[in-house]
Amino acid sequence: MLRWSARHRTARTPPRSVLELAAGPAEHAREFAARGIEATALDLNPAMCAYAAERGAGLPLRVVRGDMAAFRLGRRFDLIITMLDSTAHLMTLDAIVAHLDRVAAHVATDGVYVLEMSHPADRLTARSRSSNSWRVARDGEQADVRWGEPDDVLDPITQIVADHVTITVTSGDATRVIRGVVPYRFWTATELEAAIRLCGSLEIAARYGDFADVGVDDPAAWRLITVLRPAAAQPGDQGVAAQPGIG
Ligand SMILES: C[S@@+](CC[C@H](N)C(=O)[O-])C[C@H]1O[C@@H](n2cnc3c(N)ncnc32)[C@H](O)[C@@H]1O
Repeated sequence: MLRWSARHRTARTPPRSVLELAAGPAEHAREFAARGIEATALDLNPAMCAYAAERGAGLPLRVVRGDMAAFRLGRRFDLIITMLDSTAHLMTLDAIVAHLDRVAAHVATDGVYVLEMSHPADRLTARSRSSNSWRVARDGEQADVRWGEPDDVLDPITQIVADHVTITVTSGDATRVIRGVVPYRFWTATELEAAIRLCGSLEIAARYGDFADVGVDDPAAWRLITVLRPAAAQPGDQGVAAQPGIG
C-alpha cells in the first residue's frame, strides 16, 4: 500500500495520515501507526472497535465507531483503505455510492483510496482463485475457519449470498465450534466502475490483481484491488458553475 501510495499520489511522498474503513481488528491501521503514520480505524461494530483500541494502545491510532457509508470525520487523509473485501457489507448500489461519496469527502487532494475486493473470478468462474478455509494459530490456540459452503449460492437478482461460516477453535483437548451466517454482496468490476461514475468525485488510477502488481486480467490475479484518486475537473466544469444563467 505504501508502494502504491507513492506511485499514485502526485506528492510521491509517504502518507502522513491513513484511514482504514470497516477496519475490524485494525490490523492495517495498527501496522501504519507502528511505523509512525497517524492512523484512524473506523468500524460499525463496537466490539471490534474496543478490540482494535485495546490492541492499538500506545500507538498513534484513533478508533472511531461509524458506518463506512455515512461517516463524517471533518478532515482529510493522505491514504484511505478498505481491505479484505469489506465493501461486501454494502448491500445496495445506493450504499456503495454513498460510501464512495464519503471517501471522496475525506481523501486529500493528492491522496489515494486503496479498495481491495475478492477477484470476481471467485464467483463468476468454475475455479475459485482463493481458498475459503484457513488456520490461525496463536498463544497455544488454533482456529480453523471455513467461510462458505457449497450450497451458499448468490441470489441472481440481488447478488447477495448468506455465507455459512464455521470456526473451530482448539485449545489443548477442548474444541469449541462457532457458527454464523454472514450476508455477502458480490460486486463485479463493471458495477464498481459504474458506482465510481455515479459518485463522480473519484477516478480509477490503477487496478491490481494481487499485492505484487500482477495485472487484474492476469490468470494469476486473485484479488481485485482498485486504486482511486480525486477525479480531475472536466473541461467546462468551472465555466458552467461560474456563469449564472447558463442552463
Ligand atoms: C472482514 S471484517 C474486517 C476486516 C478488515 N477490513 C481487515 O482487513 O482485517 C469486516 C468488518 O466490516 C465491518 N462492517 C460491516 N458493515 C460496516 C459498515 N457499514 N461500516 C463500517 N464497518 C462495517 C464489520 O463490523 C467487520 O468488522
